[in-house]
Amino acid sequence: MYVCLCNCVRDKDLRQAAESGVRSFAELQAMTRVATCCGQCEDFARQVFDEALDPGALAVQPA
Ligand code: FES
Repeated sequence: MYVCLCNCVRDKDLRQAAESGVRSFAELQAMTRVATCCGQCEDFARQVFDEALDPGALAVQPA
């Protein structure tokens, strides 16, 4: 799915960037241009990128 409509960046592009060694959002922006125009996608882009860096971080913890 598209995360950033301004720059046609997909969730898989963000995951691939993480898999290729990108570790900061600024570096991700330099590579993909995500969230560099209107900025509306930034929160979701960060969420997708953080999840790609640490897949277990957002998992629901048992009560
Ligand atoms: S939707 Fe990503 S910068 Fe506009």
